[in-house]
Amino acid sequence: MNKLNRVLLAGTIALVCASCRTEGLTTDYQVIPLPKVVNVTETEHFRLSSSTHVAYPENNGLLKRNAELLAGYLSQSTGSVHKTKAVAEGERPKNAITLAINPDIANKEGYVITATTKGITIEGQTGNGVFYGMQTLRKALAFPAEAQGAAILLPCGTIEDEPRFPYRGMHLDVSRHFFPVEFVKKYIDMLALHNMNTFHWHLTDDQGWRIEIKKHPKLTEIGSVRNSTVIGRNTGEYDNTSYGGFYTQDQARDIVEYAAERYITVIPEVDLPGHMLAALAAYPEMGCTGGPYETATKWGVFEDVLCLGNDQTMLFLEDVMDEIADIFPSTYIHIGGDEAPRVRWKACPKCQARIKAEGLKADREHTAEDRLQSWCMTRIEKHLNGKGRRIIGWDEILEGDVAPNATVMSWRGSEGGIKAAQMGHDVIMTPNTHCYFDYYQSTHKEEEPLAIGGHLPLEKVYALEPTASLTEEQAKHILGAQANLWTEYIPSTEHLEYMALPRMAALAEVQWTMPEKKDYTDFTLRLLHLTKLYKANDLNYAKHFYPKSDRVATAH
Ligand code: ACM
Ligand code: ZN
Repeated sequence: MNKLNRVLLAGTIALVCASCRTEGLTTDYQVIPLPKVVNVTETEHFRLSSSTHVAYPENNGLLKRNAELLAGYLSQSTGSVHKTKAVAEGERPKNAITLAINPDIANKEGYVITATTKGITIEGQTGNGVFYGMQTLRKALAFPAEAQGAAILLPCGTIEDEPRFPYRGMHLDVSRHFFPVEFVKKYIDMLALHNMNTFHWHLTDDQGWRIEIKKHPKLTEIGSVRNSTVIGRNTGEYDNTSYGGFYTQDQARDIVEYAAERYITVIPEVDLPGHMLAALAAYPEMGCTGGPYETATKWGVFEDVLCLGNDQTMLFLEDVMDEIADIFPSTYIHIGGDEAPRVRWKACPKCQARIKAEGLKADREHTAEDRLQSWCMTRIEKHLNGKGRRIIGWDEILEGDVAPNATVMSWRGSEGGIKAAQMGHDVIMTPNTHCYFDYYQSTHKEEEPLAIGGHLPLEKVYALEPTASLTEEQAKHILGAQANLWTEYIPSTEHLEYMALPRMAALAEVQWTMPEKKDYTDFTLRLLHLTKLYKANDLNYAKHFYPKSDRVATAH
């Protein structure tokens, strides 16, 4: 199908004639992220109607759950209820979408869709692959409003697909603003829709500690609340309203399970040794000066950080990590490491004693205090390694001696990631230049809700090349890419969705699609189609890519 036809199809369904109730709505597989190989005919179709059901192999619990999710997706597109049915291994019932495991598919997350006039099969090497095939089918079907009982015609043929990168993430800061469990689940659904497999949950920061730690209850009793919040960008004016919220361990476990059902791993972040004012407000003895401290009420980087010369602080961190590891089964635990000023350590007798006792020395590139931070990161890394876990840290962990098995998250541009990959560390690319979704998405800032600054339009996200400047061998260390959503200026869920969408769609194609298949203009045409699912799922998205007359910012 040529591009013009696709615009018509995606944008207005102008191809639908008055007799569509008998003929059906024709679709294609030009979804986001674009699949690797789409080999279909335009003459034969599978007719998906209200009687189409979803089949799965009996005794396969994973595919049973996938089938239930797919039946829900189908219902959203057709307006009908679709049944699920267990069938014998290898059986391909008529008028059904059959899910199956096929060990010949090479990539763990890869899938093959085969459509004939009789039915559709979605095969994956694992349930993960089948799930991404389901997402492709769901996005191909996205006719929520128009279908209303009409059949949908899916071209016969095959789609073979697999992701470019194994790590495809989105981050969410719930410290600066807190988002309830129901919304976190909606956010996880947004990730699933975009074939993402990792949710990086930034749970602690200066402005609020948001995860229950049973051994240290004051973290949430005191640290989850701030007395007031600055208005605007550190204007000096405050709202004088108490703000708080946290997740119980049961709630966090429920979210982990909800994500796992959608093949998404939750990586928790406890940001240390900086960004710890909320913890210090709860336990002032863990700071170099002893406080008093208060949970931050404005934005920025604060000089008060954890006292690393204090043995109690280190034991506290290990306790926190024990409970975090118990809640979150992910291989990776993110331990932050960004923006930790050294001033307090320089003046603190305990920190200086630690530097001496551990033989931490300054050199031309690093201060002894830089090495003190590395010492802390390495100690926590060893503790987590002992539990079979691995750490991720922001790229500041390259300043000093990098914890030996650390994976580096490159945020101050791509330079840190490039350096880390050259040193042989695994890397996740989240450069602020392309992946900070708290930046403005238009130059018409006066028409936009207040943002932190910057300018990150959709096209720039799309242009990210995570392995640029690396040799083939070094590029193997780039596990993938992620966008970060810091929420200082994002108080509501509508606003959050507006900042995330549709930039998540552009990121999805960076993460999944081979670079030679990427084409921004083509992407925007496919995006028009995807927005039908945004609307159907009550997602607020930015419309800058629309034709000019329709561009209205709708964030609240
Ligand atoms: C960061 O944006 N401070 C990682
Ligand atoms: Zn100290």
